[in-house]
Amino acid sequence: MGALKDKFGYRTALVTGASSGLGRAFARMLRDEGLEVWSASRQPEASAREEKWHPIVLDLTEPESLLAAIEQVRREAGTPDVLVNNAGAGVFAGFAHFPPHEIPRQLQMLLTAPIQITHTFWPEMLARKRGAVVNVSSLAAEFPLPAMSLYTAAKAGLSGFSRELMLESAGSGVQVIDLQPGDFKTNFNRAVQKQPGGEAWEERVWTRFEEILEHGPLPTLAADDLRQALLKGKSGTVTTGDFFQAKFGPLAQRIFGHGLTRQVLRKYFRI
Ligand SMILES: NC(=O)c1ccc[n+]([C@@H]2O[C@H](COP(=O)([O-])OP(=O)(O)OC[C@H]3O[C@@H](n4cnc5c(N)ncnc54)[C@H](OP(=O)(O)O)[C@@H]3O)[C@@H](O)[C@H]2O)c1
Repeated sequence: MGALKDKFGYRTALVTGASSGLGRAFARMLRDEGLEVWSASRQPEASAREEKWHPIVLDLTEPESLLAAIEQVRREAGTPDVLVNNAGAGVFAGFAHFPPHEIPRQLQMLLTAPIQITHTFWPEMLARKRGAVVNVSSLAAEFPLPAMSLYTAAKAGLSGFSRELMLESAGSGVQVIDLQPGDFKTNFNRAVQKQPGGEAWEERVWTRFEEILEHGPLPTLAADDLRQALLKGKSGTVTTGDFFQAKFGPLAQRIFGHGLTRQVLRKYFRI
């Protein structure tokens, strides 16, 4: 441990959504690597008593909260060496009855806010030729999740954003990782806002989601994969999760294309 600090001189990290699930595992991994971690979420006090841990209140859906949190990080940490845009939650509803007010909220939380946070620290990272931006997208960016249209759209947008930054930053010393997790056992489903009034297919999909997440791997697996990716020092898309989702699925999609993938997804989610 400590390899990230020794190899790249990293000392500080900002992790959004570090109070739970994947974000907590990423933040602990970085802390165990010797970095001071700023943990930003709506209720960061859940993990406040740990060493090298700096809780910051942040609600990504509230522009004022976002600005205040960024300002606090600037004041306390300057530009973090490692930025992990991880926080997020989904809204579950068939698009026909998707609540209109949740459309901009999902995009703000999962796409606009991570872009704004990155935009704040990006110039300084480039100037000092050092740093890593990790955008936690989802395999949903490649394999749409039924009844999660806005979530899927936002994650695809976030992956696209990361890939564009990889082009701009090639050879700069700044690493960009488009991290695409499969299903992990976290609080994600409990946090999902499931809208009432769904159709029978939505109920079947929801039951399937619960089965899949319950049997998913633990977040420490994703943290190990992220550590390995950071240590390589290269930009790229990194998939993490069980073998079927993270390795077989992406390979099969490349070989068989989107049409067949859609058929498989319909069976997988019992639509
Ligand atoms: N679990 C999976 O299978 C899976 C798969 C692919 C991608 N992901 C992605 O991984 C990321 C983490 O999810 P998770 O599975 O670890 O879920 P989780 O256990 O529910 O954690 C979500 C984190 O995001 C924070 N958060 C939620 N809404 C927020 C808001 N409005 N503003 C600021 N922070 C907020 C939560 O903290 P507070 O409650 O303190 O705000 C919590 O720390 C998400 O972006 C998710 O889309 C998860």
